[in-house]
Amino acid sequence: MAEELVAPDIRVAETLPSRFYYDEAIFENLLSVFTGWQYAAHDSELMANPVIPLHHIEAITGEPTIIVKGEKTRCLSNICTHRGMRLTSQPCTKSTLRCEYHGRTFNLEGKMKHMPEFEQAIGFPSDSDNLHEFAMHCWKGLNFISQEDKPHLPWSELNDRFEFLDIDSYVHDISRDRDHSINANWMLYVDNYLEGFHIPFVHPELNQALDYSGYSTEVIEGGVLQIGKASKGDVKFDLPEGHPDYGQDIAAYYLWLFPNMMFNFYPWGLSVNIVVPVSPEETRVLYRGYVKDDDLAQKGAGSILDTVEIQDQNIIEQVHKSMRSKVYDRGRYSPSREQGVHHFHRIISKIYEKLF
Ligand code: FES
Ligand SMILES: [Fe+2]
Repeated sequence: MAEELVAPDIRVAETLPSRFYYDEAIFENLLSVFTGWQYAAHDSELMANPVIPLHHIEAITGEPTIIVKGEKTRCLSNICTHRGMRLTSQPCTKSTLRCEYHGRTFNLEGKMKHMPEFEQAIGFPSDSDNLHEFAMHCWKGLNFISQEDKPHLPWSELNDRFEFLDIDSYVHDISRDRDHSINANWMLYVDNYLEGFHIPFVHPELNQALDYSGYSTEVIEGGVLQIGKASKGDVKFDLPEGHPDYGQDIAAYYLWLFPNMMFNFYPWGLSVNIVVPVSPEETRVLYRGYVKDDDLAQKGAGSILDTVEIQDQNIIEQVHKSMRSKVYDRGRYSPSREQGVHHFHRIISKIYEKLF
């Protein structure tokens, strides 16, 4: 069997070749990984607006979609089945979607209800006049959609850890929304997220809030969970007896789900980063914040998110510039600190080997 691009044994493995971070063909081909499960919206956003166009999904995959809360929550196409007009560009509370172009209407189940001037049309309406429905899954108030028939995200593996959190009841806080543009490849952003190795070097403030010696990384199918321990006296989760981490002072759970979703759980609530690949050399990172306890948000590891983000982005942009060097191609992994990056690179390299 041919040698694998990224060896399974982290102790001997080399990182992805640097062309992975700028090559146009690799970038374009890897975009196919984004049409699987993607984070759409939290239930609290749908309470405020039962119809939400998913602009970030369109930015990531090119597919215009909406999430709609009727009797059931659904993900529907945002394209009118007549001649292709967008149905809605803004979140709204409408119970009927009416196309602005020629007045076709749909209910919140995506069923076409009315179309002017079609009395003489034969075989109309048919199923293809209804809006296309995409797969949806809700995990503890977090709604995910998929444009393809892909295996589910590793929810069952995560339930033990997150069962104690009442994520469904968190509330979207619009003041925490951010939209950053970074001059770097999306995989460098993911690489950086997947290790806490750089915390003492890059994030002095975060390093004060976390006990670096207790930082740990667990790889799971299709994801990585990093656990940050709180420094003595800093804010921590109140873990119930029987929880896998009971007895430990946990400041944050950092969960990455392949390929581009990051869920950062703090005692105050949840911060989500959605990574949007724009080009081989440009990435957008969207932040969403969901609050459980605003008072706690001023303390500990979860209180300095903007500072940490800017520190990370500066580093990532510098690394990106190095990728075209003639003398740098691949590095090695720290077996004790970079298991997450290794796991991600293994997933990418296996997909790459199938594609090329
Ligand atoms: S495109 Fe929507 S009614 Fe014509
Ligand atoms: Fe960082």
